[in-house]
Amino acid sequence: MGLVYIEQLEEMSVEKMQQTHENEVKILNAIDNLAISYDRGEATLDELEQKIDEYVEHVHKHFAYEEGLMQEYNFPSYDMHKTAHDMFLEELQHAIKQWKRYEKVEKITNFIRRAPEWIVLHVNTVDVPTANYLAKKMGSVAT
Ligand SMILES: [Fe+2]
Ligand SMILES: [Fe+2]
Repeated sequence: MGLVYIEQLEEMSVEKMQQTHENEVKILNAIDNLAISYDRGEATLDELEQKIDEYVEHVHKHFAYEEGLMQEYNFPSYDMHKTAHDMFLEELQHAIKQWKRYEKVEKITNFIRRAPEWIVLHVNTVDVPTANYLAKKMGSVAT
């Protein structure tokens, strides 16, 4: 069972944005499952931490990709969208620091398990209008 379902996220009119979101949902669910297994002694800390590293890298790439597209196509609300990303990254960074400082993986898994709430809201309210704008611009450039 998943923590977040792809159906909770609106479909993007830019295919690569959609794929990125689908991958992120997979990683989030994998971490949730691994955290449960880890608590039961059925997964190692190493396995869990590797998935967390993968998630952190994925989030950075996800945001950087969208920001690059917005800049390329002069998206008018770039600053608003970028600020939303930056605020999330700050919170993520804070959770990572706590995790490393106290050597408690729960500090980061608890944060990640709450991330779907943010991701669903962000995708459905911020990424949707962005993707619609980009898709139009990309279409008009191609023709
Ligand atoms: Fe996104
Ligand atoms: Fe975004």
